[in-house]
Amino acid sequence: MSTPHISASAGDYAKTVLMPGDPLRAKFVAENYLDNVKEVTNVRSMLGYTGTYKGHPVSVQGSGMGIPSIQIYATELYNHYGVENIIRIGSCGALQDDIALGDVVIAIGAGTDSMVNRHRFKGYDLAATSDYGLLRAVVDSAEKLGKTPRVGTIFSTDFFYSVDTEQVALLEKYQFAAIEMEAAGLYGLAAELGKKALAVCTVSDHLKKNQQMTPEERQLSFDEMFTIVLDAAITL
Ligand code: HPA
Repeated sequence: MSTPHISASAGDYAKTVLMPGDPLRAKFVAENYLDNVKEVTNVRSMLGYTGTYKGHPVSVQGSGMGIPSIQIYATELYNHYGVENIIRIGSCGALQDDIALGDVVIAIGAGTDSMVNRHRFKGYDLAATSDYGLLRAVVDSAEKLGKTPRVGTIFSTDFFYSVDTEQVALLEKYQFAAIEMEAAGLYGLAAELGKKALAVCTVSDHLKKNQQMTPEERQLSFDEMFTIVLDAAITL
């Protein structure tokens, strides 16, 4: 069995899949955090792995960048590989003054400038929200590790290079914590299919303060997010 974009066999994925955008980050998580690791797909170099974390099966699969790409992989995982929970583990740009580089943002819901949810929901406004059980598990896990993550709304844009010069100010005013490129599509898809999804992001840059993390800072702070989410994933 395989799907157009995934060459794994039936049963190759755990019921919970962590999804970084970067396939090499999927490889990094598999090699550094999981035991008994098996590469389950490499179509288009979009790597996916299954292993165990503290004895429990967990998968990690690259999603690529943007809503169209994550929807392709998430649709095939949910519909053909029996996956129930997808937790995006990504990066984001902060929009509020009280959020700093390296902070972990958990997206309770996502706004977007994409039309995908309008298409799937016949032009109505879909409340693109995370699954409360996944959200709760990740918040509990963070607190057990002594961390205080930011829980808020994020904005999923189709434009990394924005065409709207006033967008950052508008998003800040409407209390969006951060901007990224995938969560709203993932949440809309999970609603459509009756599955569960959550997006967790580490702040890699600050749009108001014009700050970016160094590669070393990325490595360290992404580690915090991986541990929080993996500890949560095995409670699901
Ligand atoms: N815009 C969109 N996506 C992002 C950003 C950003 O500034 N930073 C990290 N992901």
